[in-house]
Amino acid sequence: MTHLRTALFLGLLLTILHGCSAPPPSGIDQPAAVAGNLERWPQLAARPADPAIERRIQALLAGMTLEQKVGQLMQPEIRHVSNDDVRRYYLGSVLNGGGSFPQRNKHASLDDWLSLADGFYHASMSVDADVKIPIVWGTDAVHGHNNVIGATLFPHNIALGAIDNPALIEAIGAATAREMAATGISWSFAPTVAVARDDRWGRTYESYSEAPALVGRYARAQVLGLQGRRDNGTFMGEGRVIATAKHFIGDGGTAGGEDRGDTRLTEEELIRIHAQGYFRAIEAGVQVVMASFTSWNGDKLHGHRYLLTDVLKNRLGFDGFVVGDWAGHQFVPGCTVTRCPAAINAGLDMFMAPDDNWRELYTNTLADVKAGRISMARLDDANARILRVKLRAGLFEKGAPSSYPLAARQDIVGHPEHRELARQAVRESLVLLKNRGQLLPLSPKAHVLVAGNGAHNIGKQSGGWSITWQGTGNTNADFPGATSVYDGIKAQVEAAGGRVSLSENGDYSEKPDLAIVVYGEDPYAEMQGDTSHLGYHNADDLALLRKLRDAGIKVVSLFVTGRPLAINPYLNASDAFVVIWLPGTEGKAVAEPLFTKPNGDVQAAFTGRLSFSWPQFADQAPLNLDDPLAQPLFAYGYGLANGDTDTLPAALPEPTAGTLAATPGPLTIFHRRTLSPWRLDLAAKGEQPGTMSTNSLTVGAINAQTRDRFMQEDTLEITWTGPAQAGFYHPSQINLSDFAGGSLVFEARLKNAADIQVGLSCQNTCRSTHLSEFVNPGVETWQSVRIPLACLSDDLQAVASPMQLSGRQGAEIALYNLRIERGNQTCPNPSDTPLSNDVLINRSAPYNLNNGAGKPALR
Ligand code: BGC
Ligand code: BGC
Repeated sequence: MTHLRTALFLGLLLTILHGCSAPPPSGIDQPAAVAGNLERWPQLAARPADPAIERRIQALLAGMTLEQKVGQLMQPEIRHVSNDDVRRYYLGSVLNGGGSFPQRNKHASLDDWLSLADGFYHASMSVDADVKIPIVWGTDAVHGHNNVIGATLFPHNIALGAIDNPALIEAIGAATAREMAATGISWSFAPTVAVARDDRWGRTYESYSEAPALVGRYARAQVLGLQGRRDNGTFMGEGRVIATAKHFIGDGGTAGGEDRGDTRLTEEELIRIHAQGYFRAIEAGVQVVMASFTSWNGDKLHGHRYLLTDVLKNRLGFDGFVVGDWAGHQFVPGCTVTRCPAAINAGLDMFMAPDDNWRELYTNTLADVKAGRISMARLDDANARILRVKLRAGLFEKGAPSSYPLAARQDIVGHPEHRELARQAVRESLVLLKNRGQLLPLSPKAHVLVAGNGAHNIGKQSGGWSITWQGTGNTNADFPGATSVYDGIKAQVEAAGGRVSLSENGDYSEKPDLAIVVYGEDPYAEMQGDTSHLGYHNADDLALLRKLRDAGIKVVSLFVTGRPLAINPYLNASDAFVVIWLPGTEGKAVAEPLFTKPNGDVQAAFTGRLSFSWPQFADQAPLNLDDPLAQPLFAYGYGLANGDTDTLPAALPEPTAGTLAATPGPLTIFHRRTLSPWRLDLAAKGEQPGTMSTNSLTVGAINAQTRDRFMQEDTLEITWTGPAQAGFYHPSQINLSDFAGGSLVFEARLKNAADIQVGLSCQNTCRSTHLSEFVNPGVETWQSVRIPLACLSDDLQAVASPMQLSGRQGAEIALYNLRIERGNQTCPNPSDTPLSNDVLINRSAPYNLNNGAGKPALR
């Protein structure tokens, strides 16, 4: 026998013997043992422990009660926690989720943020135990302090990847930290160091690059920016915050790009592709790592002892703490959302417990420690790690958040220098894909038509994680101090004596010299942004480009996107094509490389280069630079410079009828979120109607609220406490004649369906009908509902709302996946049931939400 064989044999023998004496751990207590080969992982230069801090940790631990130690492991969400809870449960942390604000007020002021932070802090320092431990608040500042009105929103990570300038990234991190400090929040859930490898993933834009090395450089830079540097004494100094490398590990590598899916790779591939960001972040001193929702070869990361403990903590030498992701522990086998010792035993140090049931998790965890299902040693280690981070961050010395040096400084939030940094990032991140006849840069002295629904739409250009979680429900007014792409074009052109006209649909009275059309993806975030293919399809956008071109106008496309998409028809219909990604609040800077100075000199060169491979076809995912067979349309690193001649053929192949790309599908109105351009409005008698712009809205007797069905917030629940109405509205009117014979289709869970009527808002021939005619009335579980449009109207030419729901007290509907499908349906029992006047929004007067005029009124 060779040595190797002997070793294997002995190992096997030991396993068998061990297996006999102690049955393999199972159930809820112990994570399944999944092993790899630790030797494959590097041993990173370990940061020497600070003896003074280690002594303080030991002293604190010695004085803490068991309840306190369990409390430190808990991170509830601000919507479900009071100061009193912080005191009673000795909570270690709180977070605000995406689109979660103090008092649930989207427009919360700096003082609102600070006083909430102060309240938590004072509560944590007035517990009845001897040892007082300051609480720490975490937030997703993923492209600036993006939950806060007025903050500088930087371009999303995919755009930054096109720049390859770590120094700029470090400066952005520092600016973000300062804006956070102004609100008294000390911990960011950033950077995302995912290496997105299948761009169908809805978080691709949170990834800097498909190239691991670039992600590594940026992970380091962002951590240094947020936390400061040890080598110049800024580490955790004034205006710095704790950083988080997330989501450990392999979040960008799931099969099919599925969010929270399974990453099936060998250990070598996991290390080579997905670990690079963690290596560089740990070397830079990152204090927190967030566990991923995903699995590695079928095993959930939240319960992965090998990766969390053996690799991350022991081998890589990470001495900060591991936080869970949004109740992610519940998916560990044997666990529930309110009980999961296996995650703690695997190496999770803090539960992100965002739901109302976090108290049960606390109670169960306490019981698990008492029963020995979680050892004291593990509990102490988790606490030591949390204390180490809090001590290093100076939280024991900093005092109340409102006393931080930058606290309440309104001038820091959206500071001109931060906006200037963001502008630099915007202009350097633009990637020029096509430039026929060197059309760009343009003369600013021209007559320019600016068109497309992204031209003057700051919410769209900012993407997900912008004030709200999915980036939906925002208007330009939600971004004070920000500028749109149009604003920048207008400023450039007018200053040079040219002329600009803005027309979303491209209509003009006088033929312009050229048209700039801004269009692309609407905002989305995790889960909801996953797609099944990489094609961009928008018939209106394409028609707009073609209409302008057919009129002999040169067309410049500015493409708003969170990922590379197959866009051949749009490239063909454009003379020049620029990817502007998701630039954030400084849309103005997009115009800088587009136009020359008035004297014809270049103002800002095109320097952006793709940090992702760009597909030619919709079915080309995954597509990555190290795949020798990949045939991207534009390879990784592509990007034209000023003066370059593009090498595109005159006409790229376009998807043909019958393919994925060309079949007209249903018109979807609500799918996990209300899709652009639709809005949900509520109206009740005697109340000002309201538009839903966060996850909950009450207008008098009606409330709409997002709920979880299959995934977070994928469902809308509407409840009535009196007569009132809800409706999905188009910003103006939409011609649905194409859908004549079709149906309104959705899934619903209903209470008192007989008290709900469905109507369609149109010019004059529309009707409403009883919902109960189309549902199974006895059923209070989910059911599919299909209402022929013929029951609602004969004339679909000018529809303001394809679905208005009028209800009375006690009625309730949970709605899922609302769409209009094509078909050939007549109305089985035509009725023209007028609703009683007190419930009805004026159906015959469609209104324009953009100008606020003619809001629906109750008759
Ligand atoms: C939402 C969650 C989401 C989270 C992310 C919250 O506001 O309610 O569903 O996962 O934001 O931060
Ligand atoms: C996301 C994380 C985020 C967390 C807290 C989760 O849904 O996956 O990236 O940090 O919510 O908002």
